[in-house]
Amino acid sequence: MGLHHFLLILHLLGAAVWVGGHLVLAIGILPEVLRKHDVAGLLNFERKYEPIGMPALIVQVITGVWMALQFGIGPNRWFHFADPLERAVSAKLLLLLITVGFALSARFFVIPKLRPQTLPLMAFHVISVTTLGVLMLIVGSLFRLGGMG
Ligand code: HEM
Repeated sequence: MGLHHFLLILHLLGAAVWVGGHLVLAIGILPEVLRKHDVAGLLNFERKYEPIGMPALIVQVITGVWMALQFGIGPNRWFHFADPLERAVSAKLLLLLITVGFALSARFFVIPKLRPQTLPLMAFHVISVTTLGVLMLIVGSLFRLGGMG
C-alpha cells in the first residue's frame, strides 16, 4: 500500500467520524433536544462525541494537507483558484476555517452557558458545522474527477 492510499484511508475514516457523528447529532438527536428543551441530553452527546470528533478533525487536516502536497498544492498555492486542484484545496481550507470558527464559538461561548433559551443558537452551530462537513465531503469527492471545475 502506498503512502497516498494509506493517507486516503485515514482521511475516509476521519470523514466517517466527523460527518457521520454530526449527521446523527443534527438529524437523530437535535430535534428531540429542541422539542423537550433537553440541555442535558445534548451535553451528554457532546461529552461522548468530542473525544473522538476532535481527533478526527485533526486527522482530516493532517492527511488532507499532506495529500494536497502530494498533488503539488503547497501553502504558496493555498487560496489561489487558478486551476481545478487549487480550487478544491482552497475550498476545503475555507470550509475548514469556518468550521473551526463555529467549533470554537460553540466550545467557549455557547456550551459553557447552555440553557433552554440558548438551545436554538446551539442548534444553529450544529446545523452549520454539519452542512460544512457534508460540503467538505462533496468537495473531497471532486479530486478523483480532477478537482473543481
Ligand atoms: C471534516 C473535514 C473533511 C472531510 C469530511 C473530508 C472528506 C473527504 C472525502 C470524503 C474525500 C474523498 C475521498 C475519495 O475520493 O475517495 C476527500 C478527499 C480529499 N481531501 Fe478531504 N475532507 C476534509 C478535510 C480536508 C482538508 C482540511 C483538506 C486539506 C486541504 C483535505 C484535502 C483532501 C484531498 C487532497 C483529497 C483527495 C484525496 C485523493 O483523492 O487522493 N480534506 N476528503
